[in-house]
Amino acid sequence: MFTTVLPKRELAQREIAQGTLPLDLFAAIESLKKSLNAVILAHYYQEPDIQDIADFIGDSLQLANAAAKTQADVIVFAGVHFMAETAKILNPEKMVLLPDITAGCSLADSCPPEAFAAFKAKHPQHLVISYINCSAEIKAMSDIICTSSNAVKIVQQIPKEQPIIFAPDRNLGRYVMQQTGRDMLLWQGSCIVHETFSEKKIVQLKVIHPDAEVIAHPECEETVLRHADYVGSTAALLKYCQQSKSQGFIVATEPGIIHQMQKAAPDKQFIPAPPTNNCNCNECPFMRLNTLEKLYLAMKNCEPEITMSEEIRLAALRPMQRMLSMS
Ligand code: 13P
Ligand code: SF4
Repeated sequence: MFTTVLPKRELAQREIAQGTLPLDLFAAIESLKKSLNAVILAHYYQEPDIQDIADFIGDSLQLANAAAKTQADVIVFAGVHFMAETAKILNPEKMVLLPDITAGCSLADSCPPEAFAAFKAKHPQHLVISYINCSAEIKAMSDIICTSSNAVKIVQQIPKEQPIIFAPDRNLGRYVMQQTGRDMLLWQGSCIVHETFSEKKIVQLKVIHPDAEVIAHPECEETVLRHADYVGSTAALLKYCQQSKSQGFIVATEPGIIHQMQKAAPDKQFIPAPPTNNCNCNECPFMRLNTLEKLYLAMKNCEPEITMSEEIRLAALRPMQRMLSMS
């Protein structure tokens, strides 16, 4: 699915394995930032070191806005492939680098373009609203893009008689249906990370920490959301725990966000919601593919670079622009 070929990738991996990287990666990255006129955009799910070196940290909507406004020549996107692709859709003339080109997304992958085209063809009267966690091909087949921050607001702006297909996340789609009272046809995609949380373990944690609030991302299943005191995007969860009077929070989203929560509210306690199995499956395996070493090498080698056909880019740009004007 990824369009980029990596002639220098093996060399970069060898450099990591041989330990021939600069000792002070932070200084080396800062220096490359200046020489390339680069900006580093990082999602809240990135490892703490990457968040700390980033020029801008945000949720999907904030990152799309930052990508749309940047004056830099090079965008280093510390996130997953669909996010870097979004930056490229908005900035065709800029170089967009993704530290690990294999950093995909299970949710985006759960909506293959051919199957989605066939599904869409069966419902020609429906307006297609797609969550930003999808490939450029799916965006190109959509009428409007949304993120977890603005999905409810966007659906509320659609006339009531207009039927809607919502893709690819069935959990966000179901949550938006509950919030808006709208019936929508849902593509049955999901995120492996947000479907891993255990309702039973969350309830056990609530018993141990009776004063803690449960805060959850709308990609979680209904069984988790029904225990949530607050549901929102990563940026909304961060803001909520700063403003709430509570001193403790059980956080049902990828625990990378806790780095910023702890920085913003150092006296409060943040407890990651546990996965069903005894694993680290609440950490996004795709987001965690990016490391500080790979970020440095991507900047040094100007690879891996995101590319796409101009036809797909232009088709994907239209629903992105509609989102930016509606949110
Ligand atoms: P946000 O829109 O909250 O950043 O969510 C992105 C994401 O990938 C959640 O899994
Ligand atoms: Fe995709 Fe889920 Fe990872 Fe977000 S947390 S990038 S939706 S796999």
